[in-house]
Amino acid sequence: MDVRDLLRSVQLTGSAHGWHATRSAWRRQRIDKRDLPRRGPERARVPGAALDAEPMPGGGVVRFTRSSLRVRVAVGGAVFCGWDGAGPAPSYALAGEGPGGGSCPAADTRAVLEPDKDGWRVVSERLTVLVSRQGAVEMRTPGGLLLRRELPPRWWDETGQREGDGGARWAQRSETPADARVYGLGGRAGGPRLPAGGYRLWNSDPGGSFGPGDDPLYITMPVQMVVADAGCHLIFHDCTWDGRITLRDGAEGAGSGHDRPGGCEVRMDGGPLRYWVIAGTPSRVLTGWTALTGRPALPPRWALGHHHSRWGFGSEREVRRVVAGYRERDLPLSAVHLDIDHLDGHRVFTVDERRFPDLPGMAREFAAQGVRLVSIVDPAVKAEPGLAVYEEGAAVDAFVRDGRGRQVRGVVWPGQSVFPDFTDPRARAWWGGLYAERLARGFSGVWHDMNEPVSFAAFGDPTLPRSARHVLEGRGGDHREAHNVYGLAMARAGYEGLRRLRPEQRPFLFSRSGWAGMQRYGGTWSGDVVTGWEGLRASLALVLGLGLCGVPFSGPDVGGFTGTPSPELYLRWFQLGAYLPFFRTHSAIDAGRREPWEFGDEVLAHVRESLAERVRLLPYLETLSHIARSTGAPYVRPLWWNAPDDRSLRENGDAFLLGDALLVAPVLEEGAVKRSVRLPRGRWYDTATGTRYKGRTQVLLDAPLGRIPVLAKAGAVLPVAGADGGLELEAWAPRQTRTGSGVVFTGDPEGWQAPRMERFVSRWVDGELVVERDGGGAPGYPVRVRGGPA
Ligand code: NOJ
Repeated sequence: MDVRDLLRSVQLTGSAHGWHATRSAWRRQRIDKRDLPRRGPERARVPGAALDAEPMPGGGVVRFTRSSLRVRVAVGGAVFCGWDGAGPAPSYALAGEGPGGGSCPAADTRAVLEPDKDGWRVVSERLTVLVSRQGAVEMRTPGGLLLRRELPPRWWDETGQREGDGGARWAQRSETPADARVYGLGGRAGGPRLPAGGYRLWNSDPGGSFGPGDDPLYITMPVQMVVADAGCHLIFHDCTWDGRITLRDGAEGAGSGHDRPGGCEVRMDGGPLRYWVIAGTPSRVLTGWTALTGRPALPPRWALGHHHSRWGFGSEREVRRVVAGYRERDLPLSAVHLDIDHLDGHRVFTVDERRFPDLPGMAREFAAQGVRLVSIVDPAVKAEPGLAVYEEGAAVDAFVRDGRGRQVRGVVWPGQSVFPDFTDPRARAWWGGLYAERLARGFSGVWHDMNEPVSFAAFGDPTLPRSARHVLEGRGGDHREAHNVYGLAMARAGYEGLRRLRPEQRPFLFSRSGWAGMQRYGGTWSGDVVTGWEGLRASLALVLGLGLCGVPFSGPDVGGFTGTPSPELYLRWFQLGAYLPFFRTHSAIDAGRREPWEFGDEVLAHVRESLAERVRLLPYLETLSHIARSTGAPYVRPLWWNAPDDRSLRENGDAFLLGDALLVAPVLEEGAVKRSVRLPRGRWYDTATGTRYKGRTQVLLDAPLGRIPVLAKAGAVLPVAGADGGLELEAWAPRQTRTGSGVVFTGDPEGWQAPRMERFVSRWVDGELVVERDGGGAPGYPVRVRGGPA
């Protein structure tokens, strides 16, 4: 038992679920002992020497004595490498409709495998791939700079392996330049720049709450964004199994020419050894990555506003009280979320009619005030004969079974539960239909929770038995392979269900767990981040890291999930949250209040300012949502986004770019009223004081309790909401010899109509800044010029 286990078991034994959780943990252990294929004797294997090679469209296959490697460049520039016969499909990560999952983009037929000095090479537009005769693979820039070198992999084959056991365990080491820094791997509280060390790939509920030291969390992904002087690239190991990535920092030899490369080791318990590499500028990498795995779902406009949530509103009356609290104080509110306490005995797709007698009525009333209702949806279904969802699911054989064909039982909020097998297309179709009930109750969006999936356990891994059977799109397999994509597949079921049920509206869905490609269906949030300054810091790390994995829409529980934040911490969290894509206050059932008026008048006044600024920036956020949708670029970007060659920015995780125009420097330290920030190249204006700063310098900025520093880039033109709610352009003066520009997307607030994109330019004419449409003509919107000539 590790410390997490111990804590969990102490927490659970005192709770109503304690006894069941203990039984469930025993049961899981017993089932696994019985059904999990036992590891037999293993034999290590390496590829051996190259025998021959065969060119194919987009690359080719190199055969070694004990394996083979397939290299294939896809249209768009992503390079695929698959060992031991692994192809790109089937894959849960890839977008599109393919057999057993997504489909692989067509091969770029211009790329061919050809002999090279010590092996073979494939030259493509953005990457040159060199395969050595021993099975090492180098990825180089077109200019010849090394981005990464994969050493020959190693497998541990089981002698006497059974079909469907998942194949051999494998490991592969790689080297990256000494200055390379790694980001991503899903949602990691210790990021965004991931320090050297091990990172497990197994979606996990930390139980209770988490801080920067907790790993893994709800969303793990074998996706690494690597930034080095030589260039940036993303590497994705398309393998859903449990594994571990160990990162190693490099060291530079201070001019001695003896750099120690950085690198990593990927070690997986099974599944295919295959990976994709995408190289280019950060924005090109994210465009390539989201072309491969799907562009991020576009949230409806209302989802960009402020959301208020809590576990334990407990009654309609209380929800009304909170919404009225916002209204009476004239605080904008876009949505209110109902947690599991509104359900009948925590049963999914039900309502406690005694305490929530008229949800549709309340939803209508709120809608008239511009407030939407969002519902929690957990995957676990109470195993209760007579319960409609349980009976229906059983009738369509939707629930996960064990090796002997019996439904796998676990324990979650409703008690003894069963779990839909979202890797089964039929189960997904059935589950998606259940959202009709939520829509009929007046909900406008859904919040998927507990979908790692969690099954309470007093000890061991609080999830399903590893031997539990899954359909896996018809291929069949067990939970070792399905676990990490459970939340992703649930998101697909929910998203497709909502699209079928309400085709004219874009679904609003966010999910606690997920995997590579989850952005196709919606966003995510921090999960149960601990209330404390360290939790505040971790919540920014998550948003930044997820954005670099292609999941741009996320945000924390503002105020933290647990306990009661000090007024100062609450305010600083609120001020950060106001600049993050998903802006929601939320807390645990036993936590203190989170309404803005609960922290005194001074905090309320400043929260009001933050909310007003959020509303003012909504057109900009909407523009960023369309940019994310069309290019994969996250709203929230690390400071190095446009300057990956500026090494001093690579370690930074306490400030971020919001789109191209703004730089946000939140206060993450108690008591701080000033903070320093290293500015990327360009000129930057402090938006509060108008002071202009030179880029590539470290500046100390005022951060009084009432605001966090926000800087605007000289030359930026961004859309904001004017006092009357209409769209205005805010043009930050470029340097006198320069021009400025910006784009504005305006679109259908909730439907599918293509947005309108407008591009604006600014330039100095006789000492005056003129803003025009790109190509000429009046902008058509009021323009406010900020800053001055330099
Ligand atoms: C865990 C979630 O992370 C949290 O946000 C939620 O309030 C509880 N489950 C109860 O549903």
